[in-house]
Amino acid sequence: TVVDVADDDYQLGGYPDFMQKEMHEQPEAMRSALRGRLDERFSTAHLGGLGLDPRQLRSIQRVKFLGCGSAYYAGQVGANLVEEFARIPADAEPASEFRYRNPVVDPNTLYVAISQSGETIDTLATVQELKRKGGQVIGAVNVVGSAIARECGSGIFLHAGPEVSVASTKAVTNMTVSFAMLALLLGRVRDLSVAHGKRIVEGLASLPDHLTSILDAQQDVADAARKYTDAQRMFFIGRVRGWPIAREGAQKLKEISYVHAEAYQASELKHGPLALIDPTMPSVVLVPDDELLSKNIGTMEQIKARGGPVIAVTNAEIPDGLADTVIRVPHSEPELDPILFTIPLQLFGYHLAAALGRDIDKPRNLAKSVTVE
Ligand code: G6P
Repeated sequence: TVVDVADDDYQLGGYPDFMQKEMHEQPEAMRSALRGRLDERFSTAHLGGLGLDPRQLRSIQRVKFLGCGSAYYAGQVGANLVEEFARIPADAEPASEFRYRNPVVDPNTLYVAISQSGETIDTLATVQELKRKGGQVIGAVNVVGSAIARECGSGIFLHAGPEVSVASTKAVTNMTVSFAMLALLLGRVRDLSVAHGKRIVEGLASLPDHLTSILDAQQDVADAARKYTDAQRMFFIGRVRGWPIAREGAQKLKEISYVHAEAYQASELKHGPLALIDPTMPSVVLVPDDELLSKNIGTMEQIKARGGPVIAVTNAEIPDGLADTVIRVPHSEPELDPILFTIPLQLFGYHLAAALGRDIDKPRNLAKSVTVE
């Protein structure tokens, strides 16, 4: 994206920086992504840009999401959703790795190339390699007319509008909501019931309002983040649905605050990382109100028992005294929690970086899109 710096003040429209502006644009951006795509009658999604009829959708035996940075983490959310809704194997891999490892390309796999800019060289090279080997690849791209969009020829446009801040917010959110629709569509041509589909369609339709309520409560997250400005390092802990969100949360904190943040699966803590827990190592723990709630409460207990400060991001009732800081998230459908839980973590990283006086929109050593080798 080329930005005319002289225009910045005008474009900011009263916000202190583009990241804050773009976080606030999320409810509207998500409405754009959902518009015309939810089918209440048949409890499914319409994604006409895929160019795939039901028979072709049914012949897909596996889905692989490929992207770099935050786009890769969004792909991991997508892979989880495809497995949940469509019950076909799905995974995500950094495009930057995939392109160099002589990947096995399978004709019955749907490859999804994810990119906000549509110009990331590693993702573009991945698409070219897939096409050369006869792979079926679609794009999940924000910028219409970009190199990856053109190379793919079909896919899902993200409709997030222009994104300037290096730390991607609204584009990532629209990636995840787009993958929820893709997963719903793949599910509904298979065994996902009408009733389940209806619950997801209604859940998706209500997400933009939930985003607004999270943004309205921004001050609470800012207060929470400011308590941790002395931390040199932080854990972001998630489990299953929460794991890619923990990774995205750690990424946000790293890139704009320069605080060392490491994401870990809650289940793996006991296999090594617990050794790092002490009063100087706060852990942000994702605690959605789902079937793994008791496991995540156990995780917080393990951290607490070793003197580690706990910041719980949750829409569940959790025992008093377990978390030092609680960041509340609204209730949604459990499968869609990852989409909502991403937002408080953006805000957390933002406010911690702001409290440390960082240049939020232009973090050191990073570019908005990496278009050269
Ligand atoms: C760069 C940015 C990341 C971004 C990644 C992929 O590394 O710093 O924030 O997630 O590129 O960008 P894309 O435009 O392909 O989504």
